[in-house]
Amino acid sequence: MADFDGKIVVITGGSSGIGRASAVELAKRGAFVIAIGRNPAHLREAAALHKNIYAVKADLSNESAIEDAKNEILKLAKHFGSLDSKIYGFVHSAGVIYTEPFESFRKHELEEMFRVNVLSGFEIFRAILPLMRSGGSAVFVSSIDAFFGATDPPSSGYALTKGALVSLTSALASELGEKNIRVNAVIPGLIRTAMTEDFFSDEFTAQRKRFLSRVPLHRAGSADEVAKLVAFLLSEDASYISGDAIFIDGGYHAR
Ligand SMILES: NC(=O)c1ccc[n+]([C@@H]2O[C@H](COP(=O)([O-])OP(=O)(O)OC[C@H]3O[C@@H](n4cnc5c(N)ncnc54)[C@H](OP(=O)(O)O)[C@@H]3O)[C@@H](O)[C@H]2O)c1
Repeated sequence: MADFDGKIVVITGGSSGIGRASAVELAKRGAFVIAIGRNPAHLREAAALHKNIYAVKADLSNESAIEDAKNEILKLAKHFGSLDSKIYGFVHSAGVIYTEPFESFRKHELEEMFRVNVLSGFEIFRAILPLMRSGGSAVFVSSIDAFFGATDPPSSGYALTKGALVSLTSALASELGEKNIRVNAVIPGLIRTAMTEDFFSDEFTAQRKRFLSRVPLHRAGSADEVAKLVAFLLSEDASYISGDAIFIDGGYHAR
């Protein structure tokens, strides 16, 4: 299966969890993956998983680091594509969460979530757009919290950023269709990754049970399951799907 042969895909959050699993899935299917992350050890681990995964280190909460990352991506795209440095795909999976009651959110927490979860995706997609000359496909990783709120523990600030990604998906699908660029969002439920590892500890047993009792499939999902959906949406198999937001939550949204 090499449907991404020679295609360049840029993935924020490619160093861990859903982004890393997507990087591996796409690399296995022939893509050159530029994986952006912040933690050097995570980036090394991701790059070691497949020869087609190239790591770019950037703290996406920092504006100047985003600028540096953009330049590095453009350089790498040139390197892979020689004269024809086209980029095909973009996945925005970088994300950070602070859980606080509404009244307790601190400005710096809100700002960091907004920068990493929303603005960095907006900026990096804009930077690579001129290289998506033959069309392409983008996927934003949102969350069920965009639709149902995060209440247990609460995180209105996180829900706000994930809702923004759904709005951005609709707006960009409408705007970029004429360039033959499709834009979709995935809406994961509870997925077991570094971000949710605490939720699987004994301390959260009661909350976890409460949550999973509302999931028809009664289990958390895996990063690999989400990666397969991301790869499908990027692929030609989804050639007439744009502006969609697809739940991957074990049926949580159907309840
Ligand atoms: N797990 C879930 O249940 C779930 C549910 C719904 C939505 N999501 C969303 O899925 C996406 C991926 O999360 P995950 O579950 O795969 O968790 P994860 O394993 O913790 O991955 C988060 C990724 O974001 C990157 N990141 C965070 N802050 C960054 C910063 N300042 N600069 C650059 N990169 C940064 C991390 O990079 P480093 O590792 O290099 O620091 C990592 O690659 C997130 O957007 C999350 O909101 C997750």
